Amino acid sequence: MALVNEQFLKLSESYLFSEIAKKVNTFKVIHPEAKVIRLGIGDVTRPLPSAAIQALHAAVDEMGTEETFRGYGPEQGYRFLADTIIKHDYEAHGISFDPDEIFISDGAKSDTGNIGDILSKDNRIAVTDPVYPVYVDTNVMGCRAGDLQEDGHWSNILYIPCNAENGFLPALPRTRPDVIYLCYPNNPTGTALNKHELKKWVDYALANEILILFDGAYEAYIREKDVPHSIYEIRGAKQVAIEFRSFSKTAGFTGLRCGYTVIPKELNAYRFCGEKVSLNHLWNRRQCTKFNGTAYIVQRAAEAIYTPEGKKQVKANIEYYMRNAALLLEGMKATGLQVFGGINAPYIWIKAPRGLSSWKFFERLLFERHIVGTPGVGFGPEGEGYLRLTAFGKYEDTLEAIERMKTWKI
Ligand code: MLT
Repeated sequence: MALVNEQFLKLSESYLFSEIAKKVNTFKVIHPEAKVIRLGIGDVTRPLPSAAIQALHAAVDEMGTEETFRGYGPEQGYRFLADTIIKHDYEAHGISFDPDEIFISDGAKSDTGNIGDILSKDNRIAVTDPVYPVYVDTNVMGCRAGDLQEDGHWSNILYIPCNAENGFLPALPRTRPDVIYLCYPNNPTGTALNKHELKKWVDYALANEILILFDGAYEAYIREKDVPHSIYEIRGAKQVAIEFRSFSKTAGFTGLRCGYTVIPKELNAYRFCGEKVSLNHLWNRRQCTKFNGTAYIVQRAAEAIYTPEGKKQVKANIEYYMRNAALLLEGMKATGLQVFGGINAPYIWIKAPRGLSSWKFFERLLFERHIVGTPGVGFGPEGEGYLRLTAFGKYEDTLEAIERMKTWKI
């Protein structure tokens, strides 16, 4: 008799974005005439930069001839991409890495989810609340979350509230966790941490031997000078942090899939007996066993976004989305709603008016304005009473969404 991992049965029936998609599809069946504007899931709408397309074509051709065909690639990713990443994403900010500290993957979602493979189930996990649901759900799967309580918290997870009252700045927890997930610029609130705030976390982790899992998927959206582009800009971070990066939101790779994870060689975790173990070594072992590398053609496309043309095209796409973000921010404010984020990130976090719950606000927005958002409570209990809109929509749709909001009596 095969037994299942019972942890999966503790999870809600479906993943947040699948649940929303189901609700929107049902709405479309009942109202086929409605022109629905989707500002829910953070999926990009701009096509791939042409530099990436050209690189893809060239790489596909290479795969078609015997001399240049490639079979299995290195599980860690090709050296050409690791070197390019180090040069442009780190050395440009005064940070150095060896190529074997960079692990290229099919995206930050997989890596932030899979990283639990190399961590003990006895670790006490902390998350900011609201939070990207992958961190919590994968810790449920990995037996670290305990049980879901009536108030929406998991019994063994430490929640650090981020809300309008504390300016969305997570406070250092009173109880010491072993591992903490930080995502900045933040999904879902769209807020950012400046250098001083991030340093507090690195210092806290150094003093308490905590591992920081730093998700920098939205790094390309940083506008303000004092917001760090990498956690490794903070002294000592290499001893305490793993950084996850993604090409999805940077260069439109949500469908193509490519990201990378940085695990510095000086970063260790511990065995029960207190012996230090290199996380770089363990992750390498994990990847070699469970992962066969990101497709060669995709890595060539990722490399191409660092060329001068590629950079220009990426910048133009990011500006396009941030123009949407500014529109949403101003447009929502003009309707009298309280809004946050949208300055260093492509997400707008809206306080539901008159004490409406997140799901009620979501439903009214869908039924009365045909706009899809993401209910804040889907990201954690502290998200109750909020709703997230994404700036990744088409400009015309974003404009129309604002127009529809202007006449809304909520
Ligand atoms: C989101 O909407 O939060 C993102 O699209 C999720 C993701 O990147 O997986």
